[in-house]
This record gives sequence, C-alpha cells and structure tokens, in this order.
Amino acid sequence: MMSEAEQLTLVLVGPMAAGKTSIGRRVARRLDVPFIDTDKRIAREHGPIPAIFEEHGEPHFRQLERAAVAAALEEGGVISLGGGAVTDAGTRELLLPHPVAFLTVSPEAVADRIRGGGRPLLAGDDPLESWTRIFEERRGWYDEVATRMFDTSRRPMQRVADEIVTWRRELR
Ligand code: S3P
Repeated sequence: MMSEAEQLTLVLVGPMAAGKTSIGRRVARRLDVPFIDTDKRIAREHGPIPAIFEEHGEPHFRQLERAAVAAALEEGGVISLGGGAVTDAGTRELLLPHPVAFLTVSPEAVADRIRGGGRPLLAGDDPLESWTRIFEERRGWYDEVATRMFDTSRRPMQRVADEIVTWRRELR
C-alpha cells in the first residue's frame, strides 16, 4: 500500500444525500486511486449505523467516525465522509492538511434522494424538514473545512465527478 505522501488524497463532505458516495466512487475510478466510504467502514466493523445511534448514542458514533477518518487519511485515496463528520472538532482538524470538496444540494433536489431508511437523523415524520434544519446547523462547518464547493442539484453525477477530477488534478 502506498504511503499517504504518495497517494493522491481527496475528501468529500456535505449534507446527507448530496451524492458523496456515488460521486466519490466515480472520482476514485477516474483518478485510479482507492475509494473509502467511512460510513461503510464503520458499519462493517461495528454493525448498522441506526443500531449504533440507538444503542450507544450519537457522541459514540462520532468517536468511531473520527477514528475511521484518521485511518482512511493514512491510507489515502478518495474518501467520502458521513454528513455529520464535520460536527466533530477532532475530525475537522484531521481534514486541515487535505483538499476537501464540499458537495452541496438544494432541498428541492434532495427530496427524492432521502426516501427510504438507514439515516437515523431523518427518521421522523418530515425527513425534508429535518434535512434542511440539520444542513443549516452545519453549514458553517462545511464552509470551514471546504477547499471548494460543488453543487450536485441539477447535473448528472458523472459530470460533477468529472469537474472534481479536473480540479483535483490541477492541485497536484
Ligand atoms: C449522518 C449522515 C450519514 C451517517 C449517519 C449520520 C449525519 O451519512 O454518517 O447516518 O449526521 O448527517 P450520509 O451523509 O452518507 O447520509
């Protein structure tokens, strides 16, 4: 495995359902580097995310997430974080040395993407209202860690991915 210094690294942050996993996978393929989804890593090691929230609470999840982010950054490649990773000061500090793409999306565009389960923070009666409120609460943190913002509301995911690839290559 390549060391962090050699591996091209790029982190994707943004609200739930902004396309971090789908775009991250495409970007990694184009850049020919590994793709890491920290939510998937956490679930693989500790079980489903809703169960972690329910049994141990959100602060415990944020600790697991911080450890997963640290490990992923050691490995390098394209790394997609969960929407709430930026709420943790330790995680934000880990991101400082790295290029971070902030994927944003409008409430109109996200409405169709947040149906279905698996997201404990959207489990209430009005998922879109929760999504919007949570995004507003976190907006300052996304801006703080972001190197550049990309809007995923209207375009095909592949086009957004291509834009990110072009930008990341220019940074080398
Ligand atoms: C969360 C987002 C989720 C997942 C967990 C908590 C959040 O990831 O980490 O359910 O706090 O916004 P996605 O952004 O991939 O939905």
